[in-house]
Amino acid sequence: MTDASKKLHILITGATSGIGNQLTKDYLLEGHHVYAVGRDADALAELKALGAEVIDLDLMDRDKVLDAFDKISEIDVAICGAGMCEYLDMPNFDSSVFMKVMSVNMGTLSHAIEGALPKLIASKGRLVGIGSASAYVPFARAEAYGSSKAAIHYLMKTLQISLAPHDVSVSLVVPGFVETAMTKQNDFPMPFIQTPEQASQAIRDGIESGHDVIEFPKKLTFPLKALGILPDLVWQQVSSKLNKK
Ligand SMILES: NC(=O)c1ccc[n+]([C@@H]2O[C@H](COP(=O)([O-])OP(=O)(O)OC[C@H]3O[C@@H](n4cnc5c(N)ncnc54)[C@H](OP(=O)(O)O)[C@@H]3O)[C@@H](O)[C@H]2O)c1
Repeated sequence: MTDASKKLHILITGATSGIGNQLTKDYLLEGHHVYAVGRDADALAELKALGAEVIDLDLMDRDKVLDAFDKISEIDVAICGAGMCEYLDMPNFDSSVFMKVMSVNMGTLSHAIEGALPKLIASKGRLVGIGSASAYVPFARAEAYGSSKAAIHYLMKTLQISLAPHDVSVSLVVPGFVETAMTKQNDFPMPFIQTPEQASQAIRDGIESGHDVIEFPKKLTFPLKALGILPDLVWQQVSSKLNKK
């Protein structure tokens, strides 16, 4: 990863929209070989025209993922960006929404990891998972999304330890807000929101530098992280104020 001129084989899930879509386009422009994974036919066709090797795949189907990734010859970097967000509105704890968000965010990631890992071990490559700054502090309405992202933070940090002896590096990406289809639903202020281009630049720079944790924008992620380690009463009060409409 230190040789910036080396052509890499990069697998990206969530390539059909938002952050993953921008990453796919930027890595193609840099001359890398990109395996673009998603379901949206129009977006996949656009990426194919730009030079990506597209893989039309529902990442929730474990057998299909393992089969499709088995056919890939080489992966140097696997960026697992597929995911979804739905909010809960108390006092209506809709467990079907909770389970859907948990299952899609954990399922798409874990199936991709299982499928890509043999190739990453062979290449001594890098696995990249996308968490969220929402995992730093509990936010009302994000009970499902934040729980799934907190699980992803734990997963990526444990894999940093357990995959090190197998020469696979692991990065956890922690974005603040990024202007994508996912954040279009948000009806609350999104401080320091980034464009997909800014997000892609931060992620590519972090991967290039071999960072374990790639956080952006720091003016949002650092205060949130600091808030998260303060006594419960402090962040509870801040979070409650934000929850008042
Ligand atoms: N936007 C933000 O502010 C923000 C902040 C923090 C973290 N993140 C995280 O960053 C990642 C990308 O977010 P985004 O904002 O770019 O989201 P997005 O624009 O909504 O894109 C989500 C992507 O996930 C893919 N996907 C979802 N379920 C899938 C499935 N079952 N099989 C295959 N692909 C599936 C979608 O592909 P198809 O439509 O083709 O199925 C789409 O490409 C997510 O993990 C998100 O949680 C985003």
